[in-house]
Order: sequence, then structure tokens, then C-alpha cells
Amino acid sequence: VRSKTITELKTKYHAQEPITMITAHDFITASWAQSAGCDMILVGDSLATNALGYESTTQIGLEEFQYHVQSVCRAQGAAFIMADMPFGTFESSIEKGVETAIALMKSSPKVGGVKLEVGSTSGALREQDYSLKLAAALCSRGIPVMGHVGLTPQRAHALSGFKVQGSKSAKDAAAIYQTAHELQDLGCFGILLECVPHKVSKHITESLSVPTIGIGAGNGVSGQVLVQSDLLGMNLGKIPKLAQKYGDLHEQSVGFIQQYLEDVASQRFPDNDRNGFKIKDDVWGDFL
Ligand code: KIV
Ligand code: NA
Repeated sequence: VRSKTITELKTKYHAQEPITMITAHDFITASWAQSAGCDMILVGDSLATNALGYESTTQIGLEEFQYHVQSVCRAQGAAFIMADMPFGTFESSIEKGVETAIALMKSSPKVGGVKLEVGSTSGALREQDYSLKLAAALCSRGIPVMGHVGLTPQRAHALSGFKVQGSKSAKDAAAIYQTAHELQDLGCFGILLECVPHKVSKHITESLSVPTIGIGAGNGVSGQVLVQSDLLGMNLGKIPKLAQKYGDLHEQSVGFIQQYLEDVASQRFPDNDRNGFKIKDDVWGDFL
């Protein structure tokens, strides 16, 4: 099966049908997402905390991340696959950022684009914003870029925590709006809005001519993304307010493994007929 193209995603956007996106972090989770028929799969750097047990997404390096990108890309299916630009792999120079994006695209021919977290700046600051320059450099080199604005987790310290963005002042909302427009104008094929008041993200979406994908951004955007481990309840503990849990895979899995442990303890498993292998009687006789 070939992957969906950006043109096909845009057709959906122009038809005003919501674009569906979910994260995946390995072959199995990508297979589930592909079988479900989602439009886009994001190999998000949140896999660092959700699938690898790190404390922060800032801890994962490029090679370790690429290993997961490749694993996701081995699953069959038609989703458009996008990879995050991990923290520390693009900030030191435009050249470094371009090299990282190329390395991600080269991880697998199925990688269709990259996602870049972009700081929201306004006025004169915007002119010199590094991540906007990098986004432009990538787009001008033919690398499809989705600009991620609003709450940008890699910048959590700079933002003083994981907080809603653009809700406290008109200036902050305007900075997100302006940054989204700048990203569109420099060539991004879509904008991801995270943790932005739904009125603001709807307004931004209506003013843009490229699709917006929201997480914690309400239903007035062009599509939605959720972290698969949140949706499936893969991990212990609370999920963020912006997410929705459709299952409790952690609890279910623990239950299944406990059944197995009990079966082993009580010698119900394995069953020699169902799970075992026979030796011919004459071979057995010779052997004895
Ligand atoms: O890394 C990730 O999973 C993300 C989504 C939450 C948008 O960036
Ligand atoms: Na991310």
C-alpha cells in the first residue's frame, strides 16, 4: 500500500472533513493505527516519556529516535507518516537542523515530513526567530514541514511549565496567530496547535489556507491528534485533560499476564496436546 500524499490530505481539508492523526512509537502501535485507517501517523518525541520511561522528551537523541521511526515505518498501511525533530538535534545551526531533517527523511522512504516546534514571537522578534528560519530552510529544500505552535513541550522550561498558551493576553494569542501565518507563508503544509483556547485555534484555522491539527485546541481545527498511549491507557497514572482514554490497556495487560502466571503456577499451561510437540513412538523407543 502506498502512503497518502499531502495533496490527498489537503483534499480532505478542502472538503472540510476532519483529518485524523495519532502517534505511534513502534511497529505494533503503528500497525494498530494503520489497521484503524488513520490519515496520519506522528512519530512524536513524546515516545521518550510515554514508551521509553524518560522524564522528559528533551532526553532522547536522534539515533534512538530514528530507531523508533524505522520501526513505525515497517507497518503496512496508507497513513502519511511524520517524524518529530527531537530537542537538541536542530538548535545549534540551520545546517545542523537541515541535516537532522534529512536524516529523519532518510530513516525510511515512508517518512513524508517532519514536525518542528516553533516559538511564538511577535513584532520585531519574529524577524530573527531561529525556528522560523529553520522551517523556511527546510521548506525551501523540499522537506515537508508541519509547524507546531502553542504549547511546545521541548520549551516547557522557557514557558514555565506545561500550560495553555494564548489565553492570558491578547498579545500572546496574537503571537500564536502571527507565527501560524508566518509558518504558512514560508511553506509549511500544516500547523499543529497544542493547548490553545478553542476560540483562538478556530479563529486561526479560519484565517489560514493550510490545515491545522489540534491537540487541546478544540473542535474548530482541521484535524485532531492524540497520543496513542493516552488513548489506549497504556501507562499507569493520569492522562492530560486534553486527551481522551478509550481503553485501559495497562490494566488489561497486567490481568492477562497474571492469568498466564497462574496457569504456569498451577501447571495448566502449557498443555502437552495443544502447545507441545510429539516424538514418534519408535524413535522414542530407540532413544530409551
Ligand atoms: O510528541 C508528540 O506526541 C506530539 C503530539 C502531542 C503533538 O508532539
Ligand atoms: Na512532540
